[in-house]
Amino acid sequence: MATDDNIPRHVAVIMDGNGRWARKRALPRHAGHRSGVGAVRETVKLAARRGVEYLTLFAFSSENWSRPRDEVSRLMRLFVEALQREVDELHRNNVRLEFIGAREQLQPGLIDKIAAAEKQTSGNTGLRLIIAVAYGGRWDIVQAVRQVAGRLAAGEITVADIDDAAIASQLQLGEVPDPDLLIRTGGEQRISNFLLWNLAYAELWFCDTLWPDFGEKEFDEALEYYARRQRRYGHTGEQVEAVS
Ligand code: FPP
Repeated sequence: MATDDNIPRHVAVIMDGNGRWARKRALPRHAGHRSGVGAVRETVKLAARRGVEYLTLFAFSSENWSRPRDEVSRLMRLFVEALQREVDELHRNNVRLEFIGAREQLQPGLIDKIAAAEKQTSGNTGLRLIIAVAYGGRWDIVQAVRQVAGRLAAGEITVADIDDAAIASQLQLGEVPDPDLLIRTGGEQRISNFLLWNLAYAELWFCDTLWPDFGEKEFDEALEYYARRQRRYGHTGEQVEAVS
């Protein structure tokens, strides 16, 4: 069992396999996404219960805009409905909800719901649930670099001030600590343009389970895998053991 002191502070999840889950049941793809909302609810509950501080979910990537129009609009509708239905309960459970991504690309109705949900839960001190929508890791780095370049052009900083911290502070996750553990369901072993910068030292855990079937068994397996890893950050194993 993972113990309290080796629980990852920040877990990031690529929720893959909704389409295949639906196809196996001869259902349309959107039925898979709909069923995926249940797995989101369960994962939020588990993360809070196990003492995870930050949970970041990849709900819609920059690349997902090129899916069939009907699938995109059903997904957007699903986000609006899920927000409407779940925010009060998240709030009652002290969860702070935040969104990252190019939100200006979303429909005005969804942008408003996102802003209202962030405002309603902003004072909560429990799990921080971060949903990535219209998000891409390269987009994130580009928008951060643009902001740094803007400050340089304005004469607020010099070239020598541009370091890791200067760029990291302008990324969408800002001051949020980097994910310790990345979970990807659905059998593929890729990062798929998720938090490219922030995942630099994350432990990676992949499973074949399709996202709608993801639950307690899989989540705990991922936590146990994490608990067994020795994180070296470029040091030798002996160096790490000497300080622990
Ligand atoms: C990937 O499966 C999943 C998505 C692109 C959408 C994820 C959305 C949800 C789980 C819905 C709810 C989310 C929130 C935050 C309320 P896929 O369609 O790529 O599956 P496939 O690889 O089997 O085709």
